[in-house]
Amino acid sequence: MVDLSQFSLEGRIALVTGASSGIGHRVAKGLASAGARVAVAARRRERLEDLLEEIATQSGEATAITLDVTDRDSIKRCFDTITSQFDAPAEIIINNAGIGMAKNFLNMEPEDLDATMQTNFYGVHNVGQEAAKRLVAANAPGSIINIASILGLGGRRAHTAYSASKAAVVNLTRSMALDLQKHQIRVNAIAPGYFVTEITESYFETEHGKEFISRTPAGAPGNIDHLVGPIIMLASDAGAFVNGVVLPVDGAHTATWI
Ligand code: NAI
Repeated sequence: MVDLSQFSLEGRIALVTGASSGIGHRVAKGLASAGARVAVAARRRERLEDLLEEIATQSGEATAITLDVTDRDSIKRCFDTITSQFDAPAEIIINNAGIGMAKNFLNMEPEDLDATMQTNFYGVHNVGQEAAKRLVAANAPGSIINIASILGLGGRRAHTAYSASKAAVVNLTRSMALDLQKHQIRVNAIAPGYFVTEITESYFETEHGKEFISRTPAGAPGNIDHLVGPIIMLASDAGAFVNGVVLPVDGAHTATWI
């Protein structure tokens, strides 16, 4: 018999960064339906209000927090708000906020590199560090899930900064897991393949985008619903001994890489 209650997040406090759209938006609803009390955080607060209504409709509990992951003070305020709202620190962190950067290496401007690294790497690092410090201070266990990308595991034309930022997240995850293991904080990453969201939708409308995705093993982009289950596994007691891994959710895309 498998005890499915190990997948439950009943009463757990979760933070999802970049929850105003795409993967973060969907994952926040998924965590709430698994029982978590969810702090949904992003810069566009009006879109978070809509998400709160959707979560309330499914009888979930959530609060909206304005957060810019490139700003350390904003990160601190976000965690302060969580503690004051829920009377405990966030124990599940979905480090999801990120930006795309599709540009040939020769055309990269310094500000493109800065923006990509500030959001995709420093943001993940700083949110994770603030979360971990507060959990350690409270002597509480936790699960940090960094949203990397399959482009953190391999390169792609016109994606130098993006793939470098995600590769940094991949190894950050592994080393964070080692530093935080003795504090009962697990750290894992999800490496999504291609999903239709605001980052990618215009690309998938182009002939090149359609052609590219048709050549992947799945032949089509993933459905963001399919990220929810793996994330709940990593967040919950079902993933109690899963630590320091980078899990591709990519319809076998990386299985073709030789
Ligand atoms: P999205 O553009 O819909 O979501 C990104 C979210 O991050 C947005 O809500 C955006 O407002 C937020 N964000 C950006 N900068 C921020 C900042 N400084 N502070 C706070 N929030 C900020 O795109 P998507 O696809 O949902 O992306 C989510 C994550 O998944 C990103 O880290 C992305 O790199 C990653 N990913 C997405 C893939 C895809 O195919 N869509 C594939 C692999 C990884």
